[in-house]
Amino acid sequence: MAEKKIKRYTVTAALPYANGPVHIGHLSGVYVPADIYARYQRSKGNEVGFICGSDEHGVPITIRARKEGVSPQEIVDKYHAIIKDSFQKFGISLDVYSRTSSDTHRDTASAFFKKMYEEGKFVEKTSEQYFDEANQQFLADRYIKGTCPKCGYEEAYGDQCEACGTSLSPTDLIHPKSTISGEKPVLKETKHWYLPLNDYNEWLSEWIIDGHKEDWKSNVYGQCKSWIDSGLQPRAVTRDLNWGVPVPVDGAEGKVLYVWFDAPIGYISATKDWAKSNGKDWKPYWQSPDTKLVHFIGKDNIVFHCIIFPAMLKGHGDYILPDNVPANEFLNLEGNKISTSRNWAVWLHEYLEDFPGKEDVLRYTLCANAPETKDNDFTWKDFQARNNSELVAILGNFVNRAIVLTHKYYDGKIPSAGKFEAIDQEVIDRLKAIPNEVSKSIEAYRFREALGNMMELARIGNKYLADTEPWKLIKTDAERVKTIMNTALQICANLSILAEPFIPFTAEKLRKLLNLNKLHWENAGGNDLLKENHSIKKAELLFEKIEDEAINQQINKLMETKAANELAQKPAIPQKEEISFDDFMNMDIRTATILEAEKVKKSKKLLKFLVDTGIDKRTIVSGIAEHYKPEDLVGKQITVLVNLAPRKIMGIESQGMILSAEDKDGSLALMQTEKLVSNGSQVG
Ligand code: MF3
Ligand code: ZN
Repeated sequence: MAEKKIKRYTVTAALPYANGPVHIGHLSGVYVPADIYARYQRSKGNEVGFICGSDEHGVPITIRARKEGVSPQEIVDKYHAIIKDSFQKFGISLDVYSRTSSDTHRDTASAFFKKMYEEGKFVEKTSEQYFDEANQQFLADRYIKGTCPKCGYEEAYGDQCEACGTSLSPTDLIHPKSTISGEKPVLKETKHWYLPLNDYNEWLSEWIIDGHKEDWKSNVYGQCKSWIDSGLQPRAVTRDLNWGVPVPVDGAEGKVLYVWFDAPIGYISATKDWAKSNGKDWKPYWQSPDTKLVHFIGKDNIVFHCIIFPAMLKGHGDYILPDNVPANEFLNLEGNKISTSRNWAVWLHEYLEDFPGKEDVLRYTLCANAPETKDNDFTWKDFQARNNSELVAILGNFVNRAIVLTHKYYDGKIPSAGKFEAIDQEVIDRLKAIPNEVSKSIEAYRFREALGNMMELARIGNKYLADTEPWKLIKTDAERVKTIMNTALQICANLSILAEPFIPFTAEKLRKLLNLNKLHWENAGGNDLLKENHSIKKAELLFEKIEDEAINQQINKLMETKAANELAQKPAIPQKEEISFDDFMNMDIRTATILEAEKVKKSKKLLKFLVDTGIDKRTIVSGIAEHYKPEDLVGKQITVLVNLAPRKIMGIESQGMILSAEDKDGSLALMQTEKLVSNGSQVG
């Protein structure tokens, strides 16, 4: 027999930005397919480095930090930990989850730039960019807002108008404003380094357009072709920013590598970190021509992974190029685009809390419904149906029947197979063929199809038992039942191999039920994986039904999000008519403390207060009973309009008005003082 050739695979999954947690869109687009691929290659006995980490640089992280009043490092520390934990809990079998704020990365990215710089691979160019004089800093596109020249929207960003969708450059904006100081920025000269992509046009055209027409996915190929055909332009690879990898050349103070230059180098740095802590050599994974490099990404990353990063690798000269870049399209949620800012997402850390132990159910649903060739929709009803009528009713049911009957008839020991009849032989033929079908689909990056092939085996098993009815036959032909049960159990053993890349927790559980040592892909197809008399464990359900209640809870959660978003968009009530200064001064507003509070009898809305206004102690009736419990209000310092004409409300004389703000949703906030002051202080 020819010696099996072990191949080396470097499998990367896009580095997620560490400025928020990860959601189902991330999982379905990138991390589940990448994980299936990595697990499959390992099962085949290949050498795999499955590489990822947090993308911790870039302007959005600095903006988020500024908004929250913390440092960018605090932001990335927080989300790096959350993301890493989510991936681990979903069984994404990364060999390393590193980060681009690490020393290894700074050194690697620096050295990468430096080599190219010294070899004259960049073009230096001075241009005029907006500068914030108040803060003495250049402004990234996202730090500039102004009026969109297309639609007149006044809050358009320097790179895009979110009202009309036009992409812009900062100088297109009418009345540009720095979002940091609020001032009008000035144009100032600045020097940057550009990767002359135009020089790579011809090479990229040969490499991708001629070389990868057949093996790259058509969505990926199509995007690349259109970029290349329209002629590539030089791209700045440095930025004026104080968060990132410093540009390692003289005269580049205050400049960092552009995040899209440093991030993909993060794959290399992460590989180094992994190799170092495992006594391996990182170099073959990036430099050996017999290594197969595969980048798993979402469609918004195509140009960076298919054009810019390969041009960098080529320009640098020491590295191999990707063999394939299987990008997915986007996953929507219940018909709407997933959005972090609108909280329209299923967050992985929340799913883990709401559905403990059901990681595989989500993995399964996301793979079965993956946006491989077009955008797709995740719905909770579909999630429930996938679980109840596929995982429970087919896979779980089949395995459970096989194991239960084995205990019932044979005390948990595998019976021997006798003579195979036509129906057995048909099943065994499919059993032999299906692993190759799964392989073929995975190797072509068609993971939905691969999952379907795997599930076909479970369906076949289920049908086989339904057709042969061993529970009836046992009374008339016990010998025949042994053959049937042996065959059904061999299918179970095969499923534990084939299911592993897709639903690893279940595969492991199944393997333990069957009391098997870990098998490999090359074992799949065999109908002798479970030997005669081998003992298996007592049955345990692989999956449980998901009830409507759990699904409705998730749907309600989304409806609440929707309502909150609609509310947030409701415009403020228009301003009232102008008043004079005297009009204002006529209102006597004072600070006061609530001494007593109680409900007004027979009223739902009213509370009766005794307040100390500093001038006197007086009674006020206020319609806030639906918002506050009286006992919670005693002792609070509030503000009161004291010279309002007294009014009788439900027989009680009210001597003033407690001031509060009414929110769009009708909820109330009392106008309290920012720090304690003496009662009777004038508000104005
Ligand atoms: N952080 C990017 C995103 O989420 C992906 C970076 S992938 C890398 O879109 F190659 F640059 F690392
Ligand atoms: Zn616009």
